[in-house]
Amino acid sequence: MKLLVINGPNLNMLGIREPGIYGSESYNDLCEMIKKHASDMKVEVEIFQSNHEGDLVDKIQAAYGVFDAIVINPAAYTHTSVAILDAVKAVAIPTVEVHISDVSKREDFRQISYIRSACDATIAGHGFNGYIEAIDYLIDKYRK
Ligand code: DQA
Repeated sequence: MKLLVINGPNLNMLGIREPGIYGSESYNDLCEMIKKHASDMKVEVEIFQSNHEGDLVDKIQAAYGVFDAIVINPAAYTHTSVAILDAVKAVAIPTVEVHISDVSKREDFRQISYIRSACDATIAGHGFNGYIEAIDYLIDKYRK
């Protein structure tokens, strides 16, 4: 199984940005945790981060025919991007949406997720562990 993990804008600032909301662990810590879990589960993983909407769309399109599953935290683009929603729908690869924070308990503008309707599941508010849960969900689906 080949898994793609995509992270949107400002997630490269983890550990520095708003530690009260996102914790004190760095983006590198997140990547290492994902890589270790993927290796334990015998899954091939690629991790991609960009601050640019079009680059995220390009990466989702390039996943077609290459990856079996996607974990995506579109960050702020969750709440604004029809383009990312359309890209996920276009490739029709099983996808789980992840948010580190519990967006349901935050500002009104975070209550809309454009991508959600194209995803198999959404995991929010479980910190970095949400990525592990998303990976396990997609492995289960793939191996069934
Ligand atoms: C986030 C939540 C978004 O509202 C925010 O814009 C982010 C991160 C999260 O992981 O909790 O950048 O996706």
